[in-house]
Amino acid sequence: AGTRTFSIIKPDATKRNLTGAVTKMLEDAGLRVVASKRIHMTREQAEGFYAVHKERPFFGELVDFMISGPVVVQVLEGENAMQRNRDIMGATNPADAAPGTIRKELAESIEANTVHGSDSDENAAIEIAYFFNEDEIVG
Ligand code: CMP
Repeated sequence: AGTRTFSIIKPDATKRNLTGAVTKMLEDAGLRVVASKRIHMTREQAEGFYAVHKERPFFGELVDFMISGPVVVQVLEGENAMQRNRDIMGATNPADAAPGTIRKELAESIEANTVHGSDSDENAAIEIAYFFNEDEIVG
């Protein structure tokens, strides 16, 4: 029930075997994992996903990092899922993130920041469709 958002558990987290720890924090925050798969993104896939950041100075490093190891892409469902997920993720830069958030507790840096989460319901729908077919999502 509720709405859906999109999440990525990033390579810094899969490398440190934190897939379960991140997922537990999402679940404890009231989100349900209704789709999940571990993938190693191609460069083209990562560039397409982050196309909105193409002109940013950190784009190249961001893509390199996102293909440096496996990630776990997930669809999360819950009451106000997009905002709920952003609240539990914390600020982009872990140095600015509030105590108890995923990025404060687990992230290494602004780049290796453990999770991605959609920043609007509109982008959530786009990002979900980028990685999942509707029949892979089981609510
Ligand atoms: P994410 O939510 O995945 O969206 C874009 C990502 O770019 C962001 O998380 C950060 O991990 C990454 N990034 C790297 N450097 C910066 C920066 N200087 N400012 C913002 N985002 C950055």
